[in-house]
Amino acid sequence: MAKQLFIDTVGCQMNMLDSEMVVATLRKNGYELTSDIKGADTILFNTCSVRAHAEDKTYSALGTLREWKKNNPNKIIGVMGCMAQKDQKKIFDRAPYVDLVVGPGQLQQIPELIQQAEDGAEQQMAVGRLRSEGSLNEIKRSHETFDPLRDPTMRPTPFQAYLRIQIGCDKFCTYCVVPNTRGPEQGRPPLQIVEEAKILADQGCKEIILLGQTVNSYKYVDADGGETRLAELLEMLEQVDGIKRIKFVTNYPKDMTVPLLEAVRDLPKVSPYLHVPLQHGSDEVLKRMKRGYTVADYREMMHRIWDIVPDATVSSDFIVGFCGETEEEFQTSIDSIYEFKFKNSFIFKYSEREGTKAEAQMPDDVPYDVKQRRNNELLAVQNEISLKANEAFIGRTVDVLVEGLSKKAAKQEDSGPVKQMCGRTHCDRIVVFDGNERQAGQILPITVYETTPFTMFGEVVTQHQTGEPVLLPIQS
Ligand code: 5AD
Ligand code: SF4
Repeated sequence: MAKQLFIDTVGCQMNMLDSEMVVATLRKNGYELTSDIKGADTILFNTCSVRAHAEDKTYSALGTLREWKKNNPNKIIGVMGCMAQKDQKKIFDRAPYVDLVVGPGQLQQIPELIQQAEDGAEQQMAVGRLRSEGSLNEIKRSHETFDPLRDPTMRPTPFQAYLRIQIGCDKFCTYCVVPNTRGPEQGRPPLQIVEEAKILADQGCKEIILLGQTVNSYKYVDADGGETRLAELLEMLEQVDGIKRIKFVTNYPKDMTVPLLEAVRDLPKVSPYLHVPLQHGSDEVLKRMKRGYTVADYREMMHRIWDIVPDATVSSDFIVGFCGETEEEFQTSIDSIYEFKFKNSFIFKYSEREGTKAEAQMPDDVPYDVKQRRNNELLAVQNEISLKANEAFIGRTVDVLVEGLSKKAAKQEDSGPVKQMCGRTHCDRIVVFDGNERQAGQILPITVYETTPFTMFGEVVTQHQTGEPVLLPIQS
């Protein structure tokens, strides 16, 4: 019988992609995936360090395996990803029965490390050097880490795939651990990216989501000194047959250039959806965060976006309760949501992270209940804005890439052929409608008739209404 692999993935899309690649490599080594953790031969945790909460959950999950490992000493437990890189040996101190600790830059070593663990090697660690600001000249990671192996079963849906174009980050925002755990920023060669996009298209992917920590800072310099930026890369990807939509996340406000926005405007496959985290509405706080821009700079960027791509939707991330955040400063984040009218915002309570500048230099002095209250207040304002923006779509017809059953329908027992389906517009709005599973993967015109702040409800436009050729709901 094939060896069984259980993998638990938390954190960002980059982690999902890393897990996809690890699964693909292990399948080649005779593994198959299982959802039964205690029946697995190897258990891997792909971890996140961005906030303490994610780490606490991983340590607690490891704790529940203590007895299991005692009773099954031949089974393997591995911790990979950002927490592996950040905590290194500390993981063995807290959970000595862990067999492997593997950083995000060393994932290609996992099959070999598992083999060695099976042969009796204990507490193996493969991690990069710990990095901090000022060590920017360290040796860059090899492009081997861009393992082109893919595993279609690990994708968000069969029609959507993540595609890494950049690793690492050099921005060193004072609160953020990512530059330490994921290493220096490096762009991947554009031809490799295009090749991978073609393979994904051949496998049936309609949408690719380009990933980078600051994806719009993407730059690749070839041996002759020729430079490729994200705008040129998008032009190359636009030519890939079969790919219908291209998104890219996450953007850095300072690098939202005119040529990039013109590419978004001119290339029909590129979604007019820009996730550009503002993080805070106050210049003082942005300075403490070392974000490298002021609110006025961000406003200028928003005007550039609205001028060049008027139908673009913009979403943001915010941190509440950052070191020294006063009530007045917090109010500026509320004001910014009213001003910039983000489609949605991901709101996070500040979580002090070891090894960051904020940890070294600024006290984490906003009490937890204040952070929680500010989080709720900001979310309520964002919901009000999101609802208004969604209401503007009522009565309009949007093109929806159908992703599959809605969350609600996926939980229900079989309820006949008409199912609640779910998909997204080009500008990343979620739409649910009554349809059937054959429609998954199609781009359908849907008229919106109702909405909440998060979800629009619609109805498929029929041939009778459009006069267009029949949109047969046939998958293959
Ligand atoms: N505490 C809270 N939120 C954080 N983020 C990054 N680091 C921290 C931290 N230490 C948030 C930022 C970032 C998102 C992915 O996570 O808003 O954009
Ligand atoms: Fe972290 Fe800032 Fe880099 Fe984003 S840009 S990954 S928030 S350091």
